[in-house]
Amino acid sequence: QAELNPALLPLEWLMGTWESDGPGEGCFPTIKPFRYTETLHFSHVGQPIINFMFNAFHAESKKPMHRECGFIRMQPGTNKVAFIIAQNSGLVEIEEGEVIGQQINLQTHALARISFAKKPHVQQILRAFQLRPDGKLEQTVSMATDNQPLTQHLHITYRPSS
Ligand code: HEM
Repeated sequence: QAELNPALLPLEWLMGTWESDGPGEGCFPTIKPFRYTETLHFSHVGQPIINFMFNAFHAESKKPMHRECGFIRMQPGTNKVAFIIAQNSGLVEIEEGEVIGQQINLQTHALARISFAKKPHVQQILRAFQLRPDGKLEQTVSMATDNQPLTQHLHITYRPSS
């Protein structure tokens, strides 16, 4: 196991595997509210880059649903962070933002999708991670689509996986 690259020290609290702590809640004005579970993996190989995988499942049937993977980079000497993301829905995205203590605030910097992606298309994503004082990690995602302004889509809490 390589040592964490010093450029990533502001994100040390994020590393490892996280399991949803009770089901996450999905919503949007145009869809039926739903519940899901999710596992997050954050790892590294000594480069100043985090590798991540997010795998979501239907809370009741346990069927695989949404999946994202990619890389996290920080601009050295700053608190600026970038997530480089591929989603199984056919979306690729760069989100950028800031690490402030044990919180990351991100928003879409660039976005592209496969030509036959399902509509409505997402146009903007706002995402926040926060490590709470009780040791649990929280993720909130809001999005704007072709026909809806920025509205919450996801909220979920994770505990460290043993
Ligand atoms: C629906 C985007 C993550 C489950 C949608 C829609 C969009 C979208 C654009 C269609 C909304 C509409 O019809 O007006 C995204 C983006 C995500 C994300 C950009 C990540 C950043 C997730 C995750 C789950 C999930 C983690 C967990 C299982 C669903 C479900 C629906 C939905 C169940 C409604 C049915 C459907 O359209 O498939 N999402 N989503 N999404 N999303 Fe997400």
